[in-house]
Amino acid sequence: MLTEIKHHTMNQQKHIAIVGATGAVGEEMLNCLAERNFPMSKLTLLASARSAGQTRNFRGEEITIKELTHDSFEGIDIALFSAGGGISLEYGPSAAKAGCVVIDNSSAFRMDPDVPLVVPEINPDAARSASKNIIANPNCTTIISLMALFPLHQEFGLKSIIASSYQAVSGSGAAGITELEQQNKLLSEGKEITAENMNVYPVQIASNVIPHVDVFQENGYTKEEQKMLFESQKILQLPELKVTCTCVRVPVYRSHSVSITAQFDKDVDVAAAKACFETYPGIQLKDDPDNNIYPVPLDTTCKDDCLVGRIRKDQVLDNALTIWVVGDQVRKGAALNAVQIAEIL
Ligand code: A2P
Repeated sequence: MLTEIKHHTMNQQKHIAIVGATGAVGEEMLNCLAERNFPMSKLTLLASARSAGQTRNFRGEEITIKELTHDSFEGIDIALFSAGGGISLEYGPSAAKAGCVVIDNSSAFRMDPDVPLVVPEINPDAARSASKNIIANPNCTTIISLMALFPLHQEFGLKSIIASSYQAVSGSGAAGITELEQQNKLLSEGKEITAENMNVYPVQIASNVIPHVDVFQENGYTKEEQKMLFESQKILQLPELKVTCTCVRVPVYRSHSVSITAQFDKDVDVAAAKACFETYPGIQLKDDPDNNIYPVPLDTTCKDDCLVGRIRKDQVLDNALTIWVVGDQVRKGAALNAVQIAEIL
């Protein structure tokens, strides 16, 4: 109910909370807040009862992690949620009701018409109209893809996307990273990988690729693949945009790569496409195939900017470009994007 929502008056020095502070994205949120010298009066770290009492260092200060409860949000201005959709659904409304702006990394609220879905380089103004005190951080593959597609859309007018993703295990959180580490260790020791080493992925991820990210839907696509469609339409305000996507998990630790064929309203030109990226914030061109220069996941690991390369005129579709974009899933795909949204507020 809108009438129940309180809004704090935002001043320069905010009280920030991280929900899921011990997770892969939560830890990176801590790093981003520190590196960007985010102006804040206080930082509260929240996680499950399992982690309560542990400490994390932030700008030289030891902060004790507290257990997340419905009463955790009194006096907090902005809460960055990254503890999974169930926790967001359960605790996000309590936080919003307490007057705190929730920036939610899960998919729980993304398609709610009253919840802005924001990539700060693309639609920053949307973040200022969070009538429910909730702002959603888009899906990581969608963010990284749109970082490359938005400058092209401005130049040529985007019509459709055909994409295949190569997604890092960090997208499955700390447990995904641990599973790949353990399986790699077993393989290097010449040992067998058994069911007990497969808790996150249905099949072995080490030395393998899995064409399955998130759950399958009735139409044969996965939920992750449909996020690319619905979230791109919402962020770009292009309800007619067509998207087909195959999302693939690869044995890479942190950065996602996406191969995209994008069709446009206007005739495309490779030189003009490359020029789009020269001044655009958050994305850099790395495209000199004659010298084996193109983006690879290790280039963006622990970096803020996404990289785009392999830009060529598509030889099947008219008015289309085929490109390759890479970005750190934990940073721009999640933690950094959330912190950038907080910076807008
Ligand atoms: P905890 O470490 O205490 O379980 P990841 O996405 O890397 O798997 O991280 C998930 C994050 O969500 C962790 O910080 C985890 O905390 C947190 N989390 C999981 N369950 C709960 C819960 N019931 N209450 C609060 N935080 C939770």
